Amino acid sequence: KRKVIIDCDPGIDDALALMLAVASPELEVLGITIVSGNVSVKEGAENALKVLRLMNRLDIPVYLGENTPLKRAYISAQDTHGMDGLGETNYAAVNEVRPKAGAVKFICETLYQDEKVSIIALGPLTNIAKGLQQDREAFKRLDEFISMGGNYRSHGNCSPVAEYNYWCDPHGAREVYEKLDKRIHMVGLDVTRKIVLTPNILEYMQRLDPHKGEFVKNITGFYYDFHWKHEGLIGCVINDPLAVAYFINRELCSGFEAFTTIETEGISMGQTIVDTMGFWKKKENSYVLTEVDHHEFMKTFLAKVFGADKA
Ligand code: BDR
Ligand code: CA
Repeated sequence: KRKVIIDCDPGIDDALALMLAVASPELEVLGITIVSGNVSVKEGAENALKVLRLMNRLDIPVYLGENTPLKRAYISAQDTHGMDGLGETNYAAVNEVRPKAGAVKFICETLYQDEKVSIIALGPLTNIAKGLQQDREAFKRLDEFISMGGNYRSHGNCSPVAEYNYWCDPHGAREVYEKLDKRIHMVGLDVTRKIVLTPNILEYMQRLDPHKGEFVKNITGFYYDFHWKHEGLIGCVINDPLAVAYFINRELCSGFEAFTTIETEGISMGQTIVDTMGFWKKKENSYVLTEVDHHEFMKTFLAKVFGADKA
């Protein structure tokens, strides 16, 4: 089993990613750390707990992280994910366990305590940037780092050039890209936009497991409306679960190595800049994904979360 910390901002697609992570026998999820992003840290933590309750995994601790980006004012994505972050489903709060304080501390301590811990980041990179600021040594022990965020050739989803996670906290993203000193697997919009949850897949999920299928249907309703209004798409793009699936199975995606950084100011704020031509003569710090086998991803998701391989 590979040890991971999932840093996230649940969020509809984060919820699906958490379902996949905790249902995958290949992973040992040591903790879930919450960052402000789609919704506030408090709401995000409530949502993570709701997913853990659904998956019968309330044994996994949830930690509250940074409330605001490093420098920019915080802007949520409630227009996309609903006021509660789970498509305005307003499921009852989990009372049996509560979130703990100190996400950044948890991340640093876990990196010291455990061998070979990886981080899968599914939200703005504020918690990770703070961790690096506070204890850079700890991150030398980090095994692998996967970040859902950014866009190389794809257009943005927050501005013509910027993807939400890096746009929300561009300074945090830049700091992580330039200071982590580890290859960042960038699972950006180039690959995640190809992962579409269509009505027929949703229906099949409900057939396979009515309880979980109903949950996915309920939380994605709002997302469906958003995609229909904005792109005329009947279905919804689910970004975050691909980062988890790719961590488990590298064959799902491929890309190339390059030096990458993030613009922090002006009209291009949050843009991912990939130096494919080596203009800046900087050491490659990222593996930028460009290709994905979307069918294989869906098979993995349905098998692990819904037991489709046993049906
Ligand atoms: C990313 O932004 C968020 O809204 C999603 O949860 C995902 O992590 C996609 O741009
Ligand atoms: Ca997210």
